[in-house]
Amino acid sequence: MRRPPLDGYQEDGLIHETVWPEHTGVAGFSLHSASATYSQRLATAALDAIDTWSRRHQADAGTSLNASDFPFADVLDHYQAVGRIAASASLVGKLARLNVCPAGEDGTWAQRRLVRWLRSTTDQFDGDYHTYAGTGLHEALSDDAPFGTPERTTDVLTLALLMDLLRTETEALADAPSGRQSKRTHAVIHAARRIGQLAPGAVSAAPELCRALEVLHRRSGGEREMADWAAKAAGGAARLGPAMDLAGLTMLPVTPLHDEQMFLRNIQIFECLYLQTARNVESATAALEDRDPPRAAALLADVARRLAATPALHRVLTTMPPETFAIIRKHTAGRSAVQSRAFQRVEQASAPPERGTDLTARVEQAPRAAAAPGPTLQEAFLRARGRLPAWRIGEVREAMKDVDDNWCALKRSHWGITLKIIGSLPGTGGTSGAEYLYGKSQIPLFPALAAPDQR
Ligand code: HEM
Repeated sequence: MRRPPLDGYQEDGLIHETVWPEHTGVAGFSLHSASATYSQRLATAALDAIDTWSRRHQADAGTSLNASDFPFADVLDHYQAVGRIAASASLVGKLARLNVCPAGEDGTWAQRRLVRWLRSTTDQFDGDYHTYAGTGLHEALSDDAPFGTPERTTDVLTLALLMDLLRTETEALADAPSGRQSKRTHAVIHAARRIGQLAPGAVSAAPELCRALEVLHRRSGGEREMADWAAKAAGGAARLGPAMDLAGLTMLPVTPLHDEQMFLRNIQIFECLYLQTARNVESATAALEDRDPPRAAALLADVARRLAATPALHRVLTTMPPETFAIIRKHTAGRSAVQSRAFQRVEQASAPPERGTDLTARVEQAPRAAAAPGPTLQEAFLRARGRLPAWRIGEVREAMKDVDDNWCALKRSHWGITLKIIGSLPGTGGTSGAEYLYGKSQIPLFPALAAPDQR
């Protein structure tokens, strides 16, 4: 196997050698990277394809380039072969100089998609969490709502991301079976079976695919047979159209490691979940303001059901080998999920921040996005409690409690995984790491409900 060009990283003023693995799958390279050709690895295929594309469109349309048939696949082949941080400087320079879309955010979907995607491919020195995970692209697809509504589109995207993860892990198992790979693949199958709970809108958009996922575990036979069958089910995901396309475009890992692909997908799926949670919490607030407690309770029950499925995603994450994550961590400094806009939106839409305690002082180390105007759910609930009879508001209180319990369980689980994988090392977002997460896991989403007189 060829070693990637990137062999060291700098920390504390010293150059440390990265110890690259010698195999594929869990704790090794991605299959794509291990089987890449020289022209994919050296980016010559991608450079040629972009030149051809540019020439064609400059002839057609002067200086403004058409985005609809950009050679994404050639560029992705290179990035997935060597990792974003080791991408060819000539290619990165060429991508950065492309004059794609004078229309900017007002352009067509193809143009907006390309502009945002190019940002992620050229963020080696100024990237953040969002350019790393491609969340801007996912949000843009959801706003475009090709599956009817933004909410349903986000659910279909969740399905597409999960299907791609299933394909990656089943292919890795079929290529090089090992105990660790088998554990990973089974964890992903277990998560895929929860699709109806994680992303209920996907079930109405792709009922056959979701049904196929839900019976994956009933397959008998060996792991090979199981893997083949799962890969076939993943192949059916091509029907998910723009969601599957976008899942493909946002696989831009910084390293050529197999485990980073799982990490990136896990992050992207969680981002969809945070987004749906924030939307429902905001809609529940509006419903309460409109004196419609049953609607508020139903929206919150939907969130609680989704959150209750997250242990399956965390189970996949626990298969991350600490020694491999040590490499990924070195190359994702400054790209921590502590910057997640969707996660912050959930907390900001739920209750005003509690200030003045030692705990919050520690928590405030992380950068926060500006809160949206209007009341939080907790404020709307307290107001509604003053003007509606107790029997009308009790259901909402119970639903809020369920959401809170599940949200705190998610944060405790994330803390536990972090402790297992990086121990007491600081986070890539500049916090103290597990200690910071432990502090955050102790803060309820709706502190007013946790007060003794509210229980
Ligand atoms: C190997 C697995 C992971 C480890 C070791 C890890 C570690 C950490 C650490 C140390 C922090 C503290 C902030 C900082 O970076 O300084 C953090 C924050 C965070 N992580 Fe992770 N993480 C992992 C996976 C994930 C995944 C898959 C997601 C899904 C999006 C995620 C979402 C978050 C969020 C939202 C925060 C901010 C939490 C808050 O401010 O309360 N993490 N993570």
